[in-house]
Amino acid sequence: MKVPDYALLLSGLLLAPVDASTCQTPIDHPGEPFSYVQPLNTTILSPYGHYPAGLPSPKTKGKGGWENALARAKNWTAQLTLEEKSWVATGQPGPCVGNVLPIPRLNFSGLCLQNGPQCLEQGDYSSVFVSSVSAAASWDRDLLYKRGYALATEHKAKGSHVILGPIGGPLGRSPYDGRTWEGFATDPYLTGICMEETILGMQDAGVQANAKHFIAYEQETQRNPTYAPDANATTYIQDSVSSNLDDRTLHEIYMWPFANAARARVASMMCSYNRVNGSHACQNSYLLNHLLKTELGFQGYVMSDWGATHSGVASIESGMDMTMPGGFTLYGELWTEGSFWGKNLTEAVNNGTVPIARLDDMIVRIMTPYFWLGQDTHYPSVDSSVGPLNVDSPPDTWLYPWKFTGSSNRDVRGNHSQMIRAHGAASTVLLKNERNALPLRKPRNIVIVGNDAGPVLQGASNPDEFEYGVLANSGGSGACRFSFLSTPLDAITSRARKDGAIVQHWLNNTQITGNSMPSLWNPEQPDVCLVFLKAWASEGSDRQYLELDWNGNAVVEAVVKYCGNTVVITHSAGANVLPFADHPNVTAILAAHYPGEEAGNAIADVLYGDVNPSAKLPYVIAYNESDYNAPLTTAVQTNGTYDWQSWFDEELEVGYRYFDAHDIPVRYEFGFGLSYTTFNLTNLTATTPVATNLTALPEHRPVQPGGNPTLWDTVYTLTAEVRNTGTVDGYAIPQLYVGYPDSAPAGTPPSQLRGFDKVWLAKGQTKQVTFELMRRDVSYWDVVAQDWRIPTGGFTFKAGFSSRDFRANVTAALLR
Ligand code: BGC
Repeated sequence: MKVPDYALLLSGLLLAPVDASTCQTPIDHPGEPFSYVQPLNTTILSPYGHYPAGLPSPKTKGKGGWENALARAKNWTAQLTLEEKSWVATGQPGPCVGNVLPIPRLNFSGLCLQNGPQCLEQGDYSSVFVSSVSAAASWDRDLLYKRGYALATEHKAKGSHVILGPIGGPLGRSPYDGRTWEGFATDPYLTGICMEETILGMQDAGVQANAKHFIAYEQETQRNPTYAPDANATTYIQDSVSSNLDDRTLHEIYMWPFANAARARVASMMCSYNRVNGSHACQNSYLLNHLLKTELGFQGYVMSDWGATHSGVASIESGMDMTMPGGFTLYGELWTEGSFWGKNLTEAVNNGTVPIARLDDMIVRIMTPYFWLGQDTHYPSVDSSVGPLNVDSPPDTWLYPWKFTGSSNRDVRGNHSQMIRAHGAASTVLLKNERNALPLRKPRNIVIVGNDAGPVLQGASNPDEFEYGVLANSGGSGACRFSFLSTPLDAITSRARKDGAIVQHWLNNTQITGNSMPSLWNPEQPDVCLVFLKAWASEGSDRQYLELDWNGNAVVEAVVKYCGNTVVITHSAGANVLPFADHPNVTAILAAHYPGEEAGNAIADVLYGDVNPSAKLPYVIAYNESDYNAPLTTAVQTNGTYDWQSWFDEELEVGYRYFDAHDIPVRYEFGFGLSYTTFNLTNLTATTPVATNLTALPEHRPVQPGGNPTLWDTVYTLTAEVRNTGTVDGYAIPQLYVGYPDSAPAGTPPSQLRGFDKVWLAKGQTKQVTFELMRRDVSYWDVVAQDWRIPTGGFTFKAGFSSRDFRANVTAALLR
């Protein structure tokens, strides 16, 4: 394979000092392009990168409905001076977490970029929605769309043009990753749908979405380089961790949700901090130009994560269109003029290093979604109240004289809290329910235990791990400020008073585990003990353990000694090992994740049965921490510059795919969750006759956002009947998993989620559900053909209520 010599192209032309990973080494693999599984497992082919160059950067054509906006963006760009163009592409300190400077002579008031996926991070009088992991646990497309829409209306009313979310990666390769709760599910299919619905919701509300973080960003540890203390942030002690993975895994696991994002016409994507196969994700031309902008047909702009830019020309040629935070930094991007871009970009164009056509395409990519969403007319101004809440660039760092118009401290919450309460309940997974523990039936003596049950005692947000208070959101750039937080203690107490019940509480975990419990509820045995436990996680660090924080296991042990009906509720980032789950006195367990501001009311609704739980786990809960695969790279003892290497040699065995492939028992499997009723599924039938003319490889139609449109064509449809066999009404979530034929290459997981639905069923009712499979759903990525291939032989389609609870199977070959 002939590839342009990127290193040569760049040599001598660089404006700013760049790390060696800029120089991507072109590698020729005749017959087996881009599949580096074996060599990578044994030897590092090159510390500088393994991908061929993907040059030049393709221009946007505004495909998929952006054509008019593209024309306007081109016209607008033509009116800019070179300096203005450079600064549209380069962030500046200002009120928002990311800012593009205004150009008053064109009536352009700049761009305001804001976190994040669960709320407006820098927001007062704004709502805290359910977290993304919660939303994923709902398996509810409508909920995902409405949550995205409502979140975006709040951002818009506060003046944000771009929401920095949703998150398609980390995907949760390891449950220890600190940020998986900011994203959705440890499964590309479910995450893909969550991305798509969220983006559609956000952009229908008029705000640009930003799909982050592209790509293979699966750990916080060493996500950024470490710098010499006296250096100007260009001298590394050690470079950021490199996620090393093969081409098939990249396509079938990590890129998959970003394909959905591109298809949803997401305005922008954020390239990640880590290196990928040796090269920084933000200056990896193969990833950005070839995979993202060419293969996936992404028409919008690529922005750097904050400080993930490590070069001038190299990142520009590699396909990055906007650098953030740009002309100032608390992070890695620091150079003489404050940025690798900015003034340097102007100079690069003037001296011919960067073609003006490339810079024009960057601006056109940035401005097309702006015009497409009508952000040029009657868009709310930035609320001045967001500025002082900006921890990244506080007001004393602003170089530009930002002017604020419009009212400040706007209340943008509307009636969202009602919806958030419903979403919280719809996202709560019932893991265990024995002896009819739930729903509660007017208990008269209730004990509430644990430091997660009461109010937050340390302010409106959770800047760091804190001891007291319900954990309804967690740390990092996804952190939120609560204008109101319903606690389980409040919600359950006011509910219990209606029943004339007594409620006692003990919220100090240290005392609970260190003292005798019974004095609290003597002499009468309580009807129920509700134990609230939590697990914190945050950007910037990975989880150290999967047990519940604040000695959670010991709290349960203390309670079950005295309480025969103990219900455990967790507010957690994701997977926890639950060693107490088999204890006979633990009668029920609920995983409530991070449910946002209505945490208390939402859990009370589920406990009392006002809402019949329907949520399902979007990851696996194993018996032991040691059961999980894909450990993070944490303890590199050598000090070579490029020694941080994370080998994704589990390949496709991510999450349940691994547990299934090795028949490892799990405590609660992916897709599992109980209801107060029971369901059955029968009559799984293929309704589409196997297409007579289906070809193994897709017809190549002109690429649209999302890639080759043929991949999104429905090729196979199945139906099944789902029946409510229990005694109360409720939602069922039937799921469809696909087992590929033996002709698929080795390493293909035994079952992969490829369809689901959420159906309301009155008791005794039966409904038909339909699973439509697209070509991508029944294909694997063929590394030689560099295309999605449907394998020959019989597929097994398995339908049921979790990844291990199949009620009906159908076997069929798709190719004749
Ligand atoms: C995070 C991004 C975030 C950005 C701005 C980075 O550290 O990785 O997700 O949007 O900061 O706060």
